[in-house]
Amino acid sequence: MGTEHFDATAADWDRDEQKVVRAQEVARSVATTVPLSQGTRVLDYGAGTGLVTQALVGQIGPATLADSSSGMRGVIRDKVAAGVLPGARVWDLDLEAQPAPDERFDLIVTSLVLHHIRALERVLAGFAELLEPGGYLCIADLDREDGSFHGHDFDGHHGFDRVELAGQLTDAGLVDVSVRDCTEFVRDGVTYSVFLAVARRPA
Ligand SMILES: C[S@@+](CC[C@H](N)C(=O)[O-])C[C@H]1O[C@@H](n2cnc3c(N)ncnc32)[C@H](O)[C@@H]1O
Repeated sequence: MGTEHFDATAADWDRDEQKVVRAQEVARSVATTVPLSQGTRVLDYGAGTGLVTQALVGQIGPATLADSSSGMRGVIRDKVAAGVLPGARVWDLDLEAQPAPDERFDLIVTSLVLHHIRALERVLAGFAELLEPGGYLCIADLDREDGSFHGHDFDGHHGFDRVELAGQLTDAGLVDVSVRDCTEFVRDGVTYSVFLAVARRPA
């Protein structure tokens, strides 16, 4: 999938209050579900402008924010320079096209990204590889929807079936898979539910 849309919307992304609040709700859901500490090495994959990590600052250790959009990475870099994301690293990473870097994380968070990913199996395998044994993967994304969320030109996933995704996480070698309600998204008067899927790399 091209990065043009996200490159073009990056500068104004945080002006949408709903996006900010939704990211805070995802972060809250992560923080109440998995153990966090000042030592937790976090990868925020498809971080966008870094809103989810921003909401976790103070509760986590070193953060790495990865995104395939140069526009989004530019906004993250500005936030790092301004002290909003203290000490964070920024990665140009697309696991659909690139191998997983040789690094390990205690927590991978990926919020509203997976429905844009065509090579899901490859990306989930990349997450499994990037996790420290015992580390957690948290996926926030849309429940299965009728395609109205993005409109007719969108060629990604129309949300996910929770049971099907849980099976894909298991197939990727992850364990302790669970899926819970996380937050909601209102667009054009329609409410779309967002789940949080949690899984671990075997210890
Ligand atoms: C809907 S935004 C969500 C941003 C952020 N996670 C949040 O919750 O505010 C999706 C983000 O995923 C990024 N993205 C899409 N496909 C990607 C891929 N294959 N690899 C890395 N990032 C990707 C986009 O550039 C965009 O920043």
